[in-house]
Amino acid sequence: MEQTIAVASDHGGRILKQKIIEALQDSGISVRDFGVPFDDATSVDYPDLAAKVAHSVTNGETNRGILVCGTGIGMSIAANKVPGVRAALVWDEFTAKMARQHNDANVLCLGERVINHDRAVTFVNLWLQSEFEGSRHLRRLDKIKQLES
Ligand code: RB5
Repeated sequence: MEQTIAVASDHGGRILKQKIIEALQDSGISVRDFGVPFDDATSVDYPDLAAKVAHSVTNGETNRGILVCGTGIGMSIAANKVPGVRAALVWDEFTAKMARQHNDANVLCLGERVINHDRAVTFVNLWLQSEFEGSRHLRRLDKIKQLES
């Protein structure tokens, strides 16, 4: 199935974001880049970028989202405020796989200043290729959904 991935970063995540975009495009995956520009270090507010990706995923314009800031923390906090978003901050291969298998995360958050950038591309691929396991995890996601209302 053709997928489009929404991607955004603040100034603290724009270099890793660019690396991820290039890796996705090299794999033939369609990307929608919501900014900020790779070559613009102007300080911006990460919730503004998180909102663009979060809404793009929940309104169906894109299938999944990737958000990068300095630590990934701010992006994950902000994205998870949007109903329907399950944003996961991941930092290694295991958490990248679990984010999908157990949490069915539709948004992946990464911290440019805290992880190795080559490994980060692996995390993205693991998250994209892993499958949600359903079963007892579905019950837990339903309980998260109830928290939204
Ligand atoms: C920006 O300096 C930094 O605070 C931001 O990129 C992020 O790490 C916030 O969680």
